[in-house]
Amino acid sequence: MLTLIAVVSSAGGAGRSTVTAHLAAQLAHARTPVAVLELDAQNSIGALLGLRETCEQGVLSAGVAPDGWHTVLRDTPEGVPLLPAGRTDAKQLAALGDWLRGDAGGLRRQLDALGLPAGTRVFIDTQRLPDAIAQAAVVAADRVLGVVPVTTTGYVTQVDLMAACAGRVQMVPNLAASNSPLNNDLLHLIQARGGDAVVPVRIHRDDALGMAAAKGGSLARAADGSQAALDFIHLEAWLARATAPNGSGGQGDART
Ligand SMILES: Nc1ncnc2c1ncn2[C@@H]1O[C@H](COP(=O)(O)OP(=O)(O)O)[C@@H](O)[C@H]1O
Ligand SMILES: [Mg+2]
Repeated sequence: MLTLIAVVSSAGGAGRSTVTAHLAAQLAHARTPVAVLELDAQNSIGALLGLRETCEQGVLSAGVAPDGWHTVLRDTPEGVPLLPAGRTDAKQLAALGDWLRGDAGGLRRQLDALGLPAGTRVFIDTQRLPDAIAQAAVVAADRVLGVVPVTTTGYVTQVDLMAACAGRVQMVPNLAASNSPLNNDLLHLIQARGGDAVVPVRIHRDDALGMAAAKGGSLARAADGSQAALDFIHLEAWLARATAPNGSGGQGDART
């Protein structure tokens, strides 16, 4: 049985791909079975997981049918198996959206067919909501992580995120900046509105993430001791508790 974890947001550039890649790398580092499915036309996760070359073919590419996803599954230097998006266009995206709308169980069925080890956490990176493919990922997933940037846009769009996920989202504040009074106020507003659905870990704004992206690799492997590296260790620990079989971290008690 796979655990599907959709990573979504209603704000653009919220950090979905960043959170997906670094959290998955952190799980791999902790020897927890993990994989990533990239349903984001930006096609950037491969680089964040250390691949040098752009993934040309992927799950969103012309000529790759859902039952052919095994042909584009690849390993990455971070030890995270990846189904990259690949190069795509509007027509392909529309076709995939149509397939998912018509076949609600299709996403899980194709992932099950890959033969990943039982218990693998599969992170699904998505495009910004509202988006047909992202919405299908929300429906198919066991858990929904909503990335909320601690910005005015993040706060304004938080209501859309909560509505689109119909009470199933667990929100991860990103781009927190403790030295900014405005940022602290926004974080408190986001927490007050989200209540228990806001996870008890935040990701700080940290240049180490941009540097890791430029170098092509995760913070877990670089072990650089940055604030963001620590944040992802804490987020991984929270997720491990939340997704443990018989664990204490149900959707409603994310603060335990
Ligand atoms: N916590 C953070 N600190 C610094 N930069 C960040 C942080 N989170 C994201 N970024 C940067 O913001 C940009 C958008 O992030 P990305 O993960 O691509 O967003 P999305 O996938 O939601 O569009 C990237 O350049 C990324 O490096
Ligand atoms: Mg992205």
